[in-house]
Amino acid sequence: VAIEKGNYRHFMQKEIFEQPTVVAQTLRSYIHQVDESVALPQIDFDLSAVKRITIVACGTSFYAGMVAKYWIETFARLPVDIDVASEFRYRDPVLEPGGLALFISQSGETADTLAALKHCKAAGQTIAVVVNVPTSTMAREADLLLPTHAGPEIGVASTKAFSCQLAVLAALAAHLAVKRGRMDRAEETEVVQHLLQTPASLNAALAFDEEIAAMAHLIAPARDVLYLGRGPDYPLALEGALKLKEISYIHAEGYASGEMKHGPIALIDEAVPVIVLAPSGPLFEKTVSNMQEVRARGGKVVLISDAEGIAEAGEGCIATIEMPRVHPLIAPLVYAVPVQLLAYHVACVKGTDVDQPRNLAKSVTVE
Ligand code: G6P
Repeated sequence: VAIEKGNYRHFMQKEIFEQPTVVAQTLRSYIHQVDESVALPQIDFDLSAVKRITIVACGTSFYAGMVAKYWIETFARLPVDIDVASEFRYRDPVLEPGGLALFISQSGETADTLAALKHCKAAGQTIAVVVNVPTSTMAREADLLLPTHAGPEIGVASTKAFSCQLAVLAALAAHLAVKRGRMDRAEETEVVQHLLQTPASLNAALAFDEEIAAMAHLIAPARDVLYLGRGPDYPLALEGALKLKEISYIHAEGYASGEMKHGPIALIDEAVPVIVLAPSGPLFEKTVSNMQEVRARGGKVVLISDAEGIAEAGEGCIATIEMPRVHPLIAPLVYAVPVQLLAYHVACVKGTDVDQPRNLAKSVTVE
């Protein structure tokens, strides 16, 4: 069946707008709506016995893994290692019995990720796979198959697969927490309720499309753009920078907010837009003080936060993007939307080939 763009200009745009639907679709297979509990597919081993998790992936899928590390450690108190697949084997990783190796991939065919999977299998690890293509090689190799239901993703730059990966990984983190006795029934119900809120919050984020399109004209002339975030929003800063460089060819870097003073601050001048991802919450104040360091050096800040955060720190920014106020667990899913839209609209202003950016492939089958 040919996949059509419908009323959209690009597949990427269509896929960004599909996110509320496909995330809801994905969550449905991981949540028992009747008793508001998290459910994983049936497996014949005991997840509560897992001693350590090793996450391996590439590109956007790797950034989903970085968010998952944060969630799994916070909620399940289980240690997590994470590597990009092309580096993993070469550091001779310590893989002890009782380890779970978790691979994240849209295509299920990325050569580096597949090679890492085989390495872990040979080392006796249990293999879990979060994958969007159910017939892929990785899906076949899995002991625990955790499908995303994003549907076919055509745009080379991944969008809806990423948010669906995050949805599955949030459910996995909650499930591990329950199994390990780190989350009681009431807390599980609370997490499930927040997850079920996600599609509505994604819709609220998508409502800023026109505003972001207008703002894209401020970013398009830049030669370099910096993205800052802290905690689970740090991987989102990395993902924002990746999206922008992939499709608009503007040099972009994602940095942990607090690490900026150890280098990138030297780049700041009035020509470098700095996109700050900072939902209000316990990490907000520190990120804002990093943002002030940028402003004090003439940097142009775009603040992505909720109404409360913008009221507190929005003054003096060249632009603000207001996200709905969400639980910290789902913030990375919701904040994916404005960074995707910003990259998309900047690419449109620049007139690049959004769906087929130069030199990039949808699925990379060479190591
Ligand atoms: C390529 C794509 C990216 C993707 C990465 C990993 O670089 O252009 O969008 O994130 O591969 O692909 P995977 O299918 O393993 O998620």
